[in-house]
Amino acid sequence: MFPETRMRRLRRTDGMRRLSEETVLTANDLIEPVFVAPGTKRREDVASMPGVTRMSPDLLDAWASGLKAPAVLVFGVPDDEEKDETGSAAADPDGLVPQAVKAIRAARPDLTIITDVCLCGYTTHGHCGPLTPDGEIHNDGSIDMLGRMAAAHGAAGAHMAAPSAMMDGQVQAIRAALDEAGLEDVAIMSYAAKFASAFYGPFRDAAHSAPSFGDRRSYQLPIGNRREAIQDALMDEDEGADWLMVKPAMPYLDIIADLRAESLLPLAAYHVSGEYSMIKLAAAAGVLDERKVALEALLCIKRAGADAVITYYADQVCRWLAE
Ligand code: PBG
Repeated sequence: MFPETRMRRLRRTDGMRRLSEETVLTANDLIEPVFVAPGTKRREDVASMPGVTRMSPDLLDAWASGLKAPAVLVFGVPDDEEKDETGSAAADPDGLVPQAVKAIRAARPDLTIITDVCLCGYTTHGHCGPLTPDGEIHNDGSIDMLGRMAAAHGAAGAHMAAPSAMMDGQVQAIRAALDEAGLEDVAIMSYAAKFASAFYGPFRDAAHSAPSFGDRRSYQLPIGNRREAIQDALMDEDEGADWLMVKPAMPYLDIIADLRAESLLPLAAYHVSGEYSMIKLAAAAGVLDERKVALEALLCIKRAGADAVITYYADQVCRWLAE
């Protein structure tokens, strides 16, 4: 009790504060997403995400060579003419993401390469799986394609496949497809607790993946459901996931903490596009200190229980931490 106990004793000096630091953000924890578009010498700014670009595969050599973040998450952003009803271009072994993986591997053999495995960028209707005749998203029809997509990425040299479609059985199907292709060392980072969040808005502009009708609530998690999120995530663990992920991150810290307590697997959190753009735009308006707020957000995500954070700030933060 006060006055015998004084909490401020521990906070008096920088040295004292550093000794009792419970959570530390390091460069090792950060994963930088990258959007890859077809063509050559193509670089487009993503209007809704200041500082983020889409690049063609030939530009990845220079990009990867200068990257400070230790890991990347690759998204393919095909043009409209490559899209079809089932998203078949996603499984092309010579497709956009396999080309990107090879280019990044060649430039930087030390980087860890993770690939997003989902069909929404590849289907004409923008949903994460093919449609049934009554316009529903067909679960079992999509997981076969997701397995082939992950195998194409693994064969190109990706270290981890990150399925984000929220289809039931997708982790099991991907594990089976990878093993069948002799890719048993390729790991799976499952977007295990992915919510039907409006914070993905800017990403859909970056990835041209907004659904052309309806929304994703028939497959992504209901935003208010905590128990259901844990159940869904633990099923992915049973199906063979090597990593779990919670997405978005900041408004879902309770889910990160719950899942950290329920599973022994490493846990990632995705600080998504909306979380990034909120900081960027507020900083541009002079309302927030960008660096302090970004570092605080990421540290808090780690404090909640995440081992790694996927963030559009990854490379920037690695530079800040090295200063
Ligand atoms: C694909 C996918 C999405 C994101 C990652 N993978 C969008 C969505 O589900 O609509 C969002 C990432 C972000 O907002 O930064 N399914």
